[in-house]
Amino acid sequence: MALRSLFKNLNAFQKTALVTIAVTFLLIFIGGLVRATGAGLGCPDWPKCFGLWIPPTTAAELPEAYDPAEFNAFKTWMEYVNRLVGVLVGFLIVLTFLFSIKYLRNTPSVFFGAVAALILVLFQGWLGGQVVLSGLQSGMITIHMVVAVLILNVLIWTWFRSVKDRVRISIGGRARKNLMVTIFVLLAVILLQVIFGSQVREALEMVKAAYPALDRSLWIEQVGRIDMIHRTFSWLVLAFVLLFLYQSVKHAGGTALPFLAGLTLAATLLQVLLGAGLVYLGIPPAAQVFHLWIAAFMTAVPFFALLMTLQSRPGSVRGT
Ligand code: HEM
Repeated sequence: MALRSLFKNLNAFQKTALVTIAVTFLLIFIGGLVRATGAGLGCPDWPKCFGLWIPPTTAAELPEAYDPAEFNAFKTWMEYVNRLVGVLVGFLIVLTFLFSIKYLRNTPSVFFGAVAALILVLFQGWLGGQVVLSGLQSGMITIHMVVAVLILNVLIWTWFRSVKDRVRISIGGRARKNLMVTIFVLLAVILLQVIFGSQVREALEMVKAAYPALDRSLWIEQVGRIDMIHRTFSWLVLAFVLLFLYQSVKHAGGTALPFLAGLTLAATLLQVLLGAGLVYLGIPPAAQVFHLWIAAFMTAVPFFALLMTLQSRPGSVRGT
């Protein structure tokens, strides 16, 4: 299959960038866990946690300045692991950057992509601190999530630039152009949907703060129009995913594109199921975590497909 040749005989840069992409995906999952379990303030300060570099495991170990009543070992360690994996991603991006220097002469876009990822991850580290210091202000959490998705896709782009010459796909001229437009619009629609979803989450948090005694299952009724917009917009996402699948099967059969389109369709259907679970089962935390994670996945797969299509050559269909 076409994709396999992209992952064979990788050099140090390509391997490191791929590991960084995988760990960034993991970090987005852990970030979702932190949010869904309400562990965001598990460490009340930043960058230290209860004034320590290694947080306590029991209330008895807390420094005097802190009230033992505000300590919850699970939440503290959840947030701390989130920070540790964040630091790991930071180090991996530095390593990716160092390995990218050798591309500066022949494929400078690889180097500049790595620089962009480095700048974004430094900004994200700072922003993570601001999220905690703001007391988890919802707008800040949304920006934090958008930057995480941006880092993921910048890394994918950077890695792809380094393997682009291995892509040997030919798609008929007009079909290629149509496919590009479809995937581009699909990405825009998914991004809009991510913004709407974040607004639903922000509204839910406001409801939670305004009515602390209200049962979880009744939160969604208070959210209002944005919830309806978010649900209904899923039909548009689904329509463009189906168009992507149809066009890639019809015009690019035998290449990796139908597989990527199928993967996007599976993710979308799962996302709709999870969304329904959120609405009808009283916002279960596990569904929150996966709903956020799959949203990140839904930006990455069509983006990768767009890069493959842009890299294809016009001509009769041929897959690699
Ligand atoms: C089809 C594509 C969909 C995408 C890409 C998507 C994306 C998102 C995103 C990014 C969030 C914010 C998550 C966060 O910040 O933690 C969200 C929240 C939410 N979405 Fe969706 N969504 C989709 C479909 C749906 C559907 C069909 C429903 C309902 C039937 C739904 C219900 C919700 C609810 C209730 C929230 C708030 C959850 C929370 O507070 O964690 N979504 N969505």
